[in-house]
Amino acid sequence: MRQKITVVGAGNVGANVALRIADKELADVVLVDVVEGVPQGKGLDLLQSGPVQGYDVTVVGANDYELTANSDITIMTAGFPRKPGMSRDDLLLANYDVVRIAIEQVARHSPNCILIVVTNPLDAMAQAAYWVSKFPKNRVVGMAGVLDSARFRTFIAQELKVSVENVTAVVMGGHGDTMVPLVRLSGVSGIPLTELMDQATIDRIVTRTRNGGAEIVKYLKTGSAYYAPSAAAVEMAESILKDKKKVLPCAALLEGEYGIHGLFVGVPVKLGAGGIEQIYEIKLTSEEQAMLKKSADSVAELVAVLKQKQ
Ligand code: LAC
Repeated sequence: MRQKITVVGAGNVGANVALRIADKELADVVLVDVVEGVPQGKGLDLLQSGPVQGYDVTVVGANDYELTANSDITIMTAGFPRKPGMSRDDLLLANYDVVRIAIEQVARHSPNCILIVVTNPLDAMAQAAYWVSKFPKNRVVGMAGVLDSARFRTFIAQELKVSVENVTAVVMGGHGDTMVPLVRLSGVSGIPLTELMDQATIDRIVTRTRNGGAEIVKYLKTGSAYYAPSAAAVEMAESILKDKKKVLPCAALLEGEYGIHGLFVGVPVKLGAGGIEQIYEIKLTSEEQAMLKKSADSVAELVAVLKQKQ
């Protein structure tokens, strides 16, 4: 029997997640959205790409959660996107309601699924999904570090004119302006970045990475990025479904790791059939630790606002 992934939200991120899942023939897809007709139409369109692309998975759209029953994974993408000049945090309360309503349904219909949260502001929405679903912490994971490190890797590869495949990069912290690209742990085929670039170039690339989402919002004007975010979410889903145990930077509930308690923050984790199977606690320099704390503090501020709404 094929596995099943529910994608909540049939906007640009959700539709591209569904497309990538189908293209990789990972699982049957149920695309859910509150807008009547849109998930059905996009689902049918994706299904009809199957004969050309050569995939046999089914893709179906719906406005309710009946067809989603017993999904293995749910990828939560629904929410309002950022507009130019708007911070991810402005989205907090509007998207909290979206997440709350959707995740209640998801937890009811697929009580054993693993939740991948993509909705912004990411870390706070992962926390909200954790509260609402009441799932164990290993089954709730936020997508951000894979995207942020993909941006960092892209800029490094561009600068050095090397293959993106040889570039590894670690980005920790919240998915926001305070994210922590870890230069010390990034490099090209084992060569530390610091040996390949001067400090000014590194600083420029780090800043561009931190503002990577905003750079695209500025171009698009009416929305935010979706190709790289969908690719990142699907890499996580694939690692879980195939039990690949990839080590990826993701938002995970920390309970003392890095001195952070009861908060979703981006850290390197092992993703396998059990969801988050391990959180890696890397020894950080005091400067890196301070940056991570600052980033976690900004997530904590948002979570405090949500706690009052509960
Ligand atoms: C980004 C937005 C979606 O980073 O958070 O592109």
